[in-house]
Amino acid sequence: MGSIYKQLLLQSKIKPSIMNILVLGSGGREHAFAYKIVESSRCEKLFVAPGNAGTNAIAHNVAISVNDFPAIKDFVLENEVEMVVVGPEDPLVRGIYDYFKHDDALRNIMVIGPSEQGARLEGSKERAKEFMSTYAIPTAAYQSFTAQTLEEGKAFLETLKPPYVLKADGLAAGKGVLILKDLDEAKAELENMLAHSKFGSASEKVVIEEFLDGIELSVFVLTDGSNYKILPTAKDYKRIGEGDTGLNTGGMGAISPVPFADEAFTQKIEERIVKPTVQGLEKENIEYKGFIFIGLIKVNDDPFVIEYNVRMGDPETEVVLPRLKTDVIDLLEATAKGNLDGITMEIDERAATTVMAVSGGYPEAYEKGKEISGIERIGDSIVFHAGTAMKDGSVVTNGGRVLAVTSLDVDFRQALKKSYENLEEISFDKMYYRKDIGFDL
Ligand code: AMP
Ligand code: GLY
Repeated sequence: MGSIYKQLLLQSKIKPSIMNILVLGSGGREHAFAYKIVESSRCEKLFVAPGNAGTNAIAHNVAISVNDFPAIKDFVLENEVEMVVVGPEDPLVRGIYDYFKHDDALRNIMVIGPSEQGARLEGSKERAKEFMSTYAIPTAAYQSFTAQTLEEGKAFLETLKPPYVLKADGLAAGKGVLILKDLDEAKAELENMLAHSKFGSASEKVVIEEFLDGIELSVFVLTDGSNYKILPTAKDYKRIGEGDTGLNTGGMGAISPVPFADEAFTQKIEERIVKPTVQGLEKENIEYKGFIFIGLIKVNDDPFVIEYNVRMGDPETEVVLPRLKTDVIDLLEATAKGNLDGITMEIDERAATTVMAVSGGYPEAYEKGKEISGIERIGDSIVFHAGTAMKDGSVVTNGGRVLAVTSLDVDFRQALKKSYENLEEISFDKMYYRKDIGFDL
């Protein structure tokens, strides 16, 4: 057979199909997924549940909660959805992957995310620490305690040097980690967590670990359970105040790639952390077809794992996905089908930055329903909606984190300049954003 003919035949055979897709979630991360998905020629219809004003402008919002599995089931069957991309951790930790795989009608639908067992890497800090210890993945030394072993916990604190790191074992909406300078305060907080349910059932167990002093970054991995692709690194800025001060937030901005994560360092991350993580999952027969977000700390020149998340980060997704040149549906389908080894991932060389505009008062009490103006004037940045809704034909604020303004340019400083110039065009009552993203780089 002539080779051109063969090639044509092959092309027609592997002609990628178009499909209906459902993204679960309502933040900037989900808007970024939606943005990439609708860019693909393989997307027939895109639904986002529950979504926000930004996702509604490019896809169809569906008023279903991410944890309402029976409603999600009915919706995907009625609308012939072939792929479900799970944004947040909550439905993953509650077993949405298994819910699909154990249902005859849903089994063949691709779900991007780990099984419930895989999601325990985020759902339980103790599980994550045990996993790392089993596979010799570098992380801070630790011990875990319960109410029954409170006194041993206090004695363990006495053997450590300050600051003291206390972590609620379970999901605590990003608030479950306490870092304390004073020993007595650390003991009191340990008691609050274990004996007085400071974080509800999430703090029935507490991991106490060694404090690691270094600079943080994150790496994102997409795995089909045996093959993996490493996505770009990113760094987020978690504190509300400039100079990384004040309360923790979901994230006030991000940069990708991380300038200090050079080739040699990323090689260490892959060899010491990514490979043993994926091999560990495979060894334990854990189904995992999704993202692993590895929070790292660079101590001297070595990477240590601070935490695993079983999803993409927010706002990190808003800088990682815009750099992805490979068709996102091809990539996610290969993940679901176990063919990630057959994919070549292409990444935009440019740097991406995002700056988050938040409601005044966030991360404490804030008001919603403020009209947002100026989004339509933004040309050379992408405005990802995080907490927005439509009200009487206008886009209004509907959360603490409201918009993420993402820019791409030759380096992160140029990109940041664009994000900041464009943020000046946008306004809503009591809008706030950090003006120092990237200050430490
Ligand atoms: P996590 O919720 O696990 O991401 O922890 C929240 C934050 O606490 C991290 O982003 C770090 O800044 C900090 N942190 C957690 N564990 C440690 C540690 N062992 N040493 C130093 N800082 C830590
Ligand atoms: N930006 C941190 C997170 O998504 O958990």
